[in-house]
Amino acid sequence: MLAGQQVIILRQDVERNRGQEAQRSNIVAAKAIAGAVRTTLGPRGMDKMLVSSTGDVVITNDGATILQEISVQHPGAKMVIEVAKAQDDEVGDGTTTAVVLVGALMEQAELMLAKKIHPTVIAQGYRLGMGKALEIIKNLSIKVDPFDRKTLLKIADTAMTGKSIESVKGKLDGIVVDAVMAIADKSSGKVLADEDDVIIKKQKGASMDDAELIKGIVIDKKRVNETMPKRIKSAKVALVASPLEIKKTQVKAKIKITSSEQMDAFGLQERETLKKLSDAVIASGANVLLCQKGIADPIQFYLGKAGVLAVEDVAEDDMKNAAKALGASVMNKAEDLTPGVLGSAELVEESDDIDIIRIEGCKNPKTTTILLRGTSDYLLDELERAVVDGTRVVMDTMEDASFLVGGGAVETELVLGIRDYASTVGGRVQLAIEAYAASFEVIPLTLAENSGYNMIDKLVNLKNAHAKGQKNAGLNVYNGEIIDMLKEGVIEPSRSKRQSIQSSAESAIMLIRVDDMMITQNKAPQGGMNY
Ligand SMILES: Nc1ncnc2c1ncn2[C@@H]1O[C@H](COP(=O)(O)OP(=O)(O)OP(=O)(O)O)[C@@H](O)[C@H]1O
Ligand SMILES: [Mg+2]
Repeated sequence: MLAGQQVIILRQDVERNRGQEAQRSNIVAAKAIAGAVRTTLGPRGMDKMLVSSTGDVVITNDGATILQEISVQHPGAKMVIEVAKAQDDEVGDGTTTAVVLVGALMEQAELMLAKKIHPTVIAQGYRLGMGKALEIIKNLSIKVDPFDRKTLLKIADTAMTGKSIESVKGKLDGIVVDAVMAIADKSSGKVLADEDDVIIKKQKGASMDDAELIKGIVIDKKRVNETMPKRIKSAKVALVASPLEIKKTQVKAKIKITSSEQMDAFGLQERETLKKLSDAVIASGANVLLCQKGIADPIQFYLGKAGVLAVEDVAEDDMKNAAKALGASVMNKAEDLTPGVLGSAELVEESDDIDIIRIEGCKNPKTTTILLRGTSDYLLDELERAVVDGTRVVMDTMEDASFLVGGGAVETELVLGIRDYASTVGGRVQLAIEAYAASFEVIPLTLAENSGYNMIDKLVNLKNAHAKGQKNAGLNVYNGEIIDMLKEGVIEPSRSKRQSIQSSAESAIMLIRVDDMMITQNKAPQGGMNY
């Protein structure tokens, strides 16, 4: 008999939340996360300033970045952040939308739970609603030629709107679209675009307007020695990973060697070894050398004399990019260089005004670099995030050859379409499907709110327009009018909506179905039950 006796199953450091407590806790967490990013949605959304414990500052409007920077404890909150991460990985844009949708779905669930609708029914309704939503957006998707530059420009523009780079958006749209069009591969019949083929480089200084598209790669260094040529045509490029020096030179002081006489400072044996190393580079036929580590002064001198342009301390990523772009292999040691492992480019040139070396006309013509300029690191980082969003949405649109209109138009269609569908279902599930439909109102509502308009009025106007069959009607966030978003050119890749619909519903369903939460406090469990 166990009556009256306490049976301990869980360890004492396991915190347990059951039933409504667990559900409530997840609802609060999801709503809190959605609330944190909600004000950034749309072109007139605000930015967030995030300060880490070490004092690093990030100013951004990007949902994924905000959620990546804040650290949360709650398991439910972590799941919502996963939604943003998945959206960022799969699509590259629409992270705020996805998270705000989860928040709305959880809010609707809260109302239903209060009415004693069982979580299983809610989950079923959400699942059916999601299926309908995907069907509706499939029908609304507009087909496009993947190389239709005009449409792609609008796609890039919509994604980059509202990211504190307004003044240069027009120019960046062109750079982003041309970069992606240059690297897109259509050999398999379908267009494929590899994110890694568009390299983004940032250089502080000058204005954002000086951003540039370079058909090739950029190394953000200068040549190692001024006696070397600044410009090499028909370049044969050697890539070496280890340092070009002898481990222990007897000459302690670092001396810049500018004449043969100064070489006498080195012992005969050292000189020979160093000469051998530089001869290995020269004998391979290379006229450009990119070295991941340092290059000893005497070697710089020998290479300069032989007319080789050499760069030292090249970042590992740049070495990888160079190998791919130039069709070269990175050799561990200079002695291993042969003509066969060199890469080729039409031109390698050190820039006059900034500390970069441009490598253009590469063997692999697909590599493209977007060089961003700006006066501060904060600005450059936010510029980079905008450009990454821009390149990703252009890639998505090219790969899927389809897009949807923005400005809350699709969401309003979803509200109405899913509600119609719900009425054909009946029973309690109908209520859950209707609640699912209502969740999409959060997007037009938030766009209106963030632009300073009356949310309810705008939603009513939108719904009226859609009820009259204007399926592209959306909110002009600059003057509050309801306009045709397709004509306005506010368009987004279909993939973005598809992903946010799927992941928001799936994570909401998962969270609602949890009725028991066991959280182990101790990080290093020693026996007992773990969840
Ligand atoms: N010119 C515009 N007029 C009206 N709505 C717009 C306009 N440009 C973009 N939008 C809308 O703004 C929303 C996107 O806002 P935002 O870019 O801030 O969030 P996100 O794409 O969901 O997340 P993130 O960009 O942070 O990953 C979409 O609903 C889009 O249709
Ligand atoms: Mg966006």
